[in-house]
Amino acid sequence: MRKFKTVLVTGGAGFIGSNYLNRLVPKHPDVHFINFDALTYAGNLQNLTSIANKPNYSFEKGDVTDESRVRGVLETHDVDVVVHFAAESHVDRSISDPGNFVRTNVDGTLVLLHEANRFWTQRRKMGFFHHVSTDEVFGSLGAKGHFTPTSPYAPRSPYAASKAAADHLVRAFGTTYGLPYVITNTSNNYGPYQFPEKLIPLVIKNAVAGNAIPVYGKGDNVRDWLHVEDHCEALEKVLFHGKESATYLIGGSEESSNLDLVTTLLDMVDTVLKQPIGKSRQLITFVKDRAGHDFRYAIDSSETQQALNWKPKHTLQTGLLETVQWYLSHEDWLRDVVDESYLSYYQRQYVDRESNQSRTA
Ligand code: NAD
Ligand code: TYD
Repeated sequence: MRKFKTVLVTGGAGFIGSNYLNRLVPKHPDVHFINFDALTYAGNLQNLTSIANKPNYSFEKGDVTDESRVRGVLETHDVDVVVHFAAESHVDRSISDPGNFVRTNVDGTLVLLHEANRFWTQRRKMGFFHHVSTDEVFGSLGAKGHFTPTSPYAPRSPYAASKAAADHLVRAFGTTYGLPYVITNTSNNYGPYQFPEKLIPLVIKNAVAGNAIPVYGKGDNVRDWLHVEDHCEALEKVLFHGKESATYLIGGSEESSNLDLVTTLLDMVDTVLKQPIGKSRQLITFVKDRAGHDFRYAIDSSETQQALNWKPKHTLQTGLLETVQWYLSHEDWLRDVVDESYLSYYQRQYVDRESNQSRTA
């Protein structure tokens, strides 16, 4: 079991990072967790209210591309481990603003690697760099087959390309400078605190408001869904037991086409709101497809399951119902994140772009 005192978690105010901190901080009181986050539109300290006052938790506002800030935090807290979540994470935004993705995901990862490696070398510490990545680096699958740890890199969106570049940099630091690292590549996550630009929270939010539910293309693209708590359990195992230089593929083994997923979710919203089942389905609106839309992602996580003695606890049915109930009982949270910048993003992404191209199901 790996031993350490201080963990720097980048991007801990985002969706997965906050679920990770909410799980690990109370469970490991002997470890000090520092949340380093720039608080972009996707970062929200409200996600962390349950741990904000814990003695083994601190928040440091900062940007991963800021070398002197990163160096200062590593030194001040004498960091032993970096767990790197911070990223620009939404494919649609990467299509309209790819430069921002290269800046945060590539330049930011390089700064962290460089500063962590320098700091650990100077202090003669072993150190450990856990890079959190995505299965999207492997590109798009057809109807059959799965991603495995030996799948070739074939990213197709600016987001996926920037995460692929970051993965390559992490391995290069391992090979060239001997930096101890691990990489995890994970499928689509869902659950509490996900920003409502991603499919599942967007569908729930729009259904509650009685607004159109935008489904790209014909809705036949397939994703492999993993509940964020199952993901965080796997990440916790990687932190304590992950093998140096290893790559772990973490998937939910729960594939669904987007249209099936959206329909299931809308029926769940009707059930929880005690509306006639089928009412919300009428909101489904097929819209112009995403440019370069990857058809299917699916992970074969059998190796990871065996290596970490882990498997997802949620089925898609139980996880989605829990998620619908969570969003419906956290309307304040949703209201707070839907600010002016969200509304202008929504207008650009769904209203201006569509003009007269939408048709109703
Ligand atoms: P998110 O967009 O919800 O959160 C990203 C966090 O990073 C935010 O708190 C934001 O403020 C912070 N951040 C952004 N730019 C920063 C910068 N320059 N400096 C410091 N902080 C910055 O993302 P998420 O969904 O929680 O994803 C976390 C990680 O997991 C990402 O690396 C993503 O690529 C990866 N991942 C996500 C999924 C998914 O389904 N969400 C799946 C696989 C992998
Ligand atoms: P998303 O949640 O953006 O995750 P990713 O693109 O990383 O897989 O999208 C999941 C799927 O849902 C993807 O195939 C695109 C589709 N989608 C829609 O059909 N409508 C939407 O409004 C959004 C945001 C996504």
